[in-house]
Amino acid sequence: MSEFQEKSPVLTREQLTADVVRLTLHCPRIAAAAKPGQFVMVRAGETLDPLLRRPFSIHKVTAEGGLAVLFKVIGKGTRLLATAAPGSSLDVIGPLGRGFYPDKTGPHCLIGGGMGIAPLYFLAHQLLAAGSSHANPPVLLGAQTQAELMLLAQEFTELGYPVLTATDDGSLGHQGFVTDLLDALLTEVRQVYVCGPLPMMRTVAAKCRGAGVACQVSLETHMACGLGACLGCTFPASSGGYRHVCKDGPVFSAEEVAWSR
Ligand SMILES: Cc1cc2nc3c(=O)[nH]c(=O)nc-3n(C[C@H](O)[C@H](O)[C@H](O)COP(=O)(O)OP(=O)(O)OC[C@H]3O[C@@H](n4cnc5c(N)ncnc54)[C@H](O)[C@@H]3O)c2cc1C
Ligand code: FES
Repeated sequence: MSEFQEKSPVLTREQLTADVVRLTLHCPRIAAAAKPGQFVMVRAGETLDPLLRRPFSIHKVTAEGGLAVLFKVIGKGTRLLATAAPGSSLDVIGPLGRGFYPDKTGPHCLIGGGMGIAPLYFLAHQLLAAGSSHANPPVLLGAQTQAELMLLAQEFTELGYPVLTATDDGSLGHQGFVTDLLDALLTEVRQVYVCGPLPMMRTVAAKCRGAGVACQVSLETHMACGLGACLGCTFPASSGGYRHVCKDGPVFSAEEVAWSR
């Protein structure tokens, strides 16, 4: 797998909510090599503080070399990145990791929670581009409030996917967990792809196992290097031992994960 380091001009900056930002960067070599589910490591600023790059899923790519990341501001790195203005540049390494294994035969169901929605847009786009002609069940999207979901849900709809939403406060769609929406679909899907908070993915994995449906999960851990060099991103595997999220993943079969350890 090829990875590149590119000084990437910021093409656009969109403020989706008070604390969710989407940056589109120009990094043509990374964008051309990227697969859905892979990620990039972005240096947050020009100085050595913060020292470590921050990992972000590849949210979208364009034929013109654009690559979008969608993120929530939670600490120093994302606070700095959120101020990146069009015309400025960010240092980006990628594409990194192993992404989703697209199964174009479908029907497939994509489930995203919070910023876990980010890699699923790229996947949805590529599944269609790869010729998945199946009448797909809805994409299931969950977030705390309507504000976080509105634009993203609309973009999946524009791709041609039906969308069902769930919010914690009931401001859009089902009030409650996005995983509640999966039960009614399990009899008709062959493959589930999920990215979001760990408890959500654990629930989806258990439901899929119960129904005999294949499930791929995209895991998130703290990452220092993103390159397999620091051992900072391990999680316990069902077969014993540990796996690196940055090198062996971030996408795994749900069966590979020791959910209870
Ligand atoms: C493969 C991968 C893909 C990711 N994709 C996205 C994405 O598309 N959009 C997005 O918004 N975020 C994504 N993340 C998470 C993102 O990398 C972190 O939110 C970011 O690094 C936080 O940096 P910070 O400097 O703002 O916060 P920090 O100051 O580093 O941390 C602030 C607080 O958040 C906690 N924290 C930091 N990183 C994580 C993490 N990975 N998991 C749990 N808690 C954490 C810290 O412990 C601390 O309490 C991804 C992470 C990984 C590993
Ligand atoms: S982040 Fe360093 S080994 Fe995975």
